[in-house]
Amino acid sequence: MQIDIELTNCSRFVSENEVVEEAVKSIHHLEALVKRTGPGNSFLGWLDLPEESSLLTEKINATAEELRSQAPVTVVIGIGGSYLGARAVIESLRPPIPLNDNKQQHEVLFAGQNISEDFHSSLLAYLGDKPFNIIVISKSGTTTEPAIAFRILKKQLENNVPASRLNKHIIAITDSEKGALRLLADREGYATYIIPDDIGGRYSVLTPVGLLPIAVAGYNISEFIEGAKHMAAITRDNKIADSNPSLLYAAVRNLLYKKGKLIEILVNYEPSMHFIAEWWKQLFGESEGKEGKGIFPAAADLTTDLHSLGQYMQDGERILIETVLSVKSQRSELTIPPDYENLDKLNYIAGKRLSEVNSKAEEGTIMAHVEGGVPVIRIIIPLINERYLGQLLYFFEISCAISGYILGVNPFDQPGVEAYKKNMFRLLGKENQ
Ligand code: PA5
Repeated sequence: MQIDIELTNCSRFVSENEVVEEAVKSIHHLEALVKRTGPGNSFLGWLDLPEESSLLTEKINATAEELRSQAPVTVVIGIGGSYLGARAVIESLRPPIPLNDNKQQHEVLFAGQNISEDFHSSLLAYLGDKPFNIIVISKSGTTTEPAIAFRILKKQLENNVPASRLNKHIIAITDSEKGALRLLADREGYATYIIPDDIGGRYSVLTPVGLLPIAVAGYNISEFIEGAKHMAAITRDNKIADSNPSLLYAAVRNLLYKKGKLIEILVNYEPSMHFIAEWWKQLFGESEGKEGKGIFPAAADLTTDLHSLGQYMQDGERILIETVLSVKSQRSELTIPPDYENLDKLNYIAGKRLSEVNSKAEEGTIMAHVEGGVPVIRIIIPLINERYLGQLLYFFEISCAISGYILGVNPFDQPGVEAYKKNMFRLLGKENQ
């Protein structure tokens, strides 16, 4: 079993033939990617990560085990590409409501994604005087949000662990040579992992940036990498258009874009997948939104947001593509209990599993939205586990690269993200901007 794509609910908007034709036409983009002859070709190190990362698993697992054994909590500091991949995988895998009596569970918290005083005060209060670990991730080593969080948390850590052990509680993931974090790590003797020069943040989940936090959270990174390897074989290494889900996905979204579909909403019916969409939004938004072009990537948690965004999705401006993360099997089992009084009139579904009701909600919503003028792409996910998440994320990475090439942009740069920083630094009075 593997991640797959289903396009039947797009056929009212683009025919299957059109999609396959566009996918066939896009094979040269896949070739340019793999042969490294397209735009942004100095940032393609991520293509080989499914094979190369296997070499790192032993070392990463050993570091993770050490961190887990010396403190009950690890705070992962990072933002954007140095944060979202790890969070997406960890949140997908961990129980939505943590069991606080589960002593085996090592707690992973995230910081460095905001500059909120309340957030940081509350994090410090939560950590109190207990020992904790910090994994600080920054390729440049100078990004404002994680640098502020690191400064604050390091100060707290100095109070919580003996000075002689302080550097054992901090791992830095950064550039091999450059940047403030590299300098500090070398000076203070923190263990470090490297973010390769040829891999941008949003494509870094299969480097230590994603793998170390995932391993510390207690999940199987070898399975995750195996999943990516499997997906590489059917996307990166597969030039047969109609059996390559990435070519098909890239083709259909670009065809729909040309027909005026300007926004793609990635929806889930599993709350644990919320951060997959956050990661996906960065991947596609930062890769494609440039030169006045690109589909705007949005996200919704269903059925929750059917009670808020549902009206617009059904009936608003017809500029939407809906892409559904459709999970086929559950990790647990729960049925709806019968009720003697039946005041809520739910006895007609008593005895049914919640997953059956959820999948009927998905079916019914797709039918209604297609009827209302929204093409729906379905990404079929057999089960939420490490292997399928590895497949899913690598599938999106390859798809995004091909899609950017079809659109005619360089999917590996992000010239637009500097503009707000320049203003912020000027307003704060930073010298030598
Ligand atoms: O994709 C990107 O380049 C950004 O999202 C970065 O990953 C993010 O700004 C964090 O940068 P850094 O790792 O240099 O702290």
